[in-house]
Amino acid sequence: MHRLIIDTDPGVDDAHAILMALAHPDASVEAITVVGGNVGLEHTGPNALKILDVAGADVPVYRGAASSLVLPGENAASVHGADGLGDAGLPASQRTFEAEHAANALVRLANAEPGELSLIAIGPLTNLALAVRLDPDLPSKFKKLVVMGGAIHSRGNTSTASAEFNIFADPEAAHVVFSTWPRLTLVSWETTLAHGFSLDVVQRFFDLGTPKAEFFRKTNEKLIAYVTEVLGRGMLFAPDGLAMAVALEPAIVRHAELKPVSIELHGRHTRGQTVVDWLSRGGAPANVEIVLEVDTQRFIELMELGLR
Ligand code: BDR
Ligand code: CA
Repeated sequence: MHRLIIDTDPGVDDAHAILMALAHPDASVEAITVVGGNVGLEHTGPNALKILDVAGADVPVYRGAASSLVLPGENAASVHGADGLGDAGLPASQRTFEAEHAANALVRLANAEPGELSLIAIGPLTNLALAVRLDPDLPSKFKKLVVMGGAIHSRGNTSTASAEFNIFADPEAAHVVFSTWPRLTLVSWETTLAHGFSLDVVQRFFDLGTPKAEFFRKTNEKLIAYVTEVLGRGMLFAPDGLAMAVALEPAIVRHAELKPVSIELHGRHTRGQTVVDWLSRGGAPANVEIVLEVDTQRFIELMELGLR
């Protein structure tokens, strides 16, 4: 059984990832910690509650950082909608947040049961950075950390061409996490691009005919139109769903490489870049298991599982 804490900035693809985890028979989602990212915390927080409404699941939700540690980042409202869930007009939830800050909750939960909980981070890493500064031994108290983030070959998706959104949104936080966690698993933007869905597959998701599939259709409509305009062809990418699939079923990974990875903080053109020492020449310890390929068929099945 995977006992998970999900740190997230919902986010259209975050929503699907959370639904996948909640539906998985071998997973128990024990807490959701929310961070500002795709849009502000005033949206990402309530979005987490709305997703629990869709799933019909009761999970404590903790709000965390509303802004990045040092410099303001950019948001992704052009991709996820001004409300972060595709401007689909979803009703507000009646659920409430826990009073505790997300960073404090991460520290408390990990210390209550060291080595039992796995952490999956699918937003900017601000909450994790704050938590590890509160408790420097935190990395050893989580069983595993899976991060969706990074552009391992510098093919990014932000205004800094070589940086991926979750890292670029708070590079200092990413630096804190990558330099304190002795080992983490990374699902990058390029690996996401290599596992995109054609519109035929997306139509199969829509056609499942469940309330969750309807939620998926409504929240993804604008995102698919955006991707189609940018790429010139219809595709759907699910970065956070892919990271969740890796967290839930590590055996889905077909090819991964363990390499030293650091975060560029200063480059004029490269701030937020995940710098991979592919030849391990620099002498830094190999801290990141970089996922390069997964079993596509199983990934599709897990995406469907979240929508049934
Ligand atoms: C990541 O950035 C966000 O827009 C997505 O939710 C995902 O976590 C992809 O670069
Ligand atoms: Ca996200």
